[in-house]
Amino acid sequence: MSEQNISENKKRVLSCIQPSGMLTLGNYLGALKNWIKMQDEFDCTFAVADLHAITVKQDPAKLKQQILSTYALLLALGLDPEKHTVFIQSHVPEHTALSWLLSCNTQFGEMSRMTQFKDKSAKHPENVNVGLFSYPVLMAADILLYKPDFVPVGADQKQHLEIARDIAVRFNNKYGDVFTIPEPYIPKTGARVMSLQDPSKKMSKSDENPNAWVAILDDRDTIIRKFKRAVTDSDSVVKMSEDKPGISNLITIYSAVTGKTVAEIEKEFEGKGYGEFKLAVGEAVADELAPIKERYEEIIKDKKTLEELYREGSLKAEKVARKTYFKAMKKVGFVL
Ligand code: TYM
Repeated sequence: MSEQNISENKKRVLSCIQPSGMLTLGNYLGALKNWIKMQDEFDCTFAVADLHAITVKQDPAKLKQQILSTYALLLALGLDPEKHTVFIQSHVPEHTALSWLLSCNTQFGEMSRMTQFKDKSAKHPENVNVGLFSYPVLMAADILLYKPDFVPVGADQKQHLEIARDIAVRFNNKYGDVFTIPEPYIPKTGARVMSLQDPSKKMSKSDENPNAWVAILDDRDTIIRKFKRAVTDSDSVVKMSEDKPGISNLITIYSAVTGKTVAEIEKEFEGKGYGEFKLAVGEAVADELAPIKERYEEIIKDKKTLEELYREGSLKAEKVARKTYFKAMKKVGFVL
């Protein structure tokens, strides 16, 4: 069987990540770890969603550097640009083009309900732009162009995925079959990694307190220091419980990294204090991330290879995207 046939028989996966600052342990455990694993079984397409990043204010020089560093980090994580497609969203114009067709089939009321829009517009009242509002439609276009069966994301993206499915179903009903209806693929452990400083909030790279989040590229000492400083409750029993959100978050992280179950972890740390547990979590995370950082330092140095890879990735992506886009255009009634 030729390689082409093999890939045609495989189910498809698509996901993207924004290049808005340093990627975090939350991104890694909620999404990227699954991306790496899924490469063995599925035909995968992954992108740096740079168009999404400008829904909030960005410094142009910094944005450029972050797009490149995010692409390099995806390679360092072990995504394989030869077997799969790894590209930069803005290099494939069909994303914005399809998003227009989808916008005209999406209701204002649906978009107004999106919690991320509500959160971000409350956080940046000076910049509630139309792009921030219609962002989930662009995300739906990112997904639907590649007809994926599964979309690996963290729990915070579930609502956006549901709207992408609704838009696809509506479009197919109105114009005939164009899009595959994708399923979310959310990890059992690590789908919602919380801030180390305020466990009621999601771990986020935009958090002003750098101790609240761990970057994938943090060095070992920084990682361990951040875990040592993590906010926990006043008793000292390592136990998963709703009234112990800080320690529960650390148990989740330790479980996602080591593969140990919650019961195994509670047993391992029975009679031991929080200090010992926090150190163990910090060391486990640092061990897991160290080889990624090492590979990243090598990859980011070789700008020429990096450019070759993202250009090839975009060509591969565009071939698929163009086909879907023209099919949608034709169904809507445009003259091609
Ligand atoms: P983004 O860039 O904010 O995050 C990338 C991925 O990381 C997951 N994630 C988390 N998971 C667990 N705990 C956390 N604290 C945490 N923080 C982030 C996110 O769920 C996501 O899977 N809109 C998307 C990017 C996007 C996209 C797409 C995703 C654009 N187009 C098409 C899927 C398909 C976003 O802002 O993710």
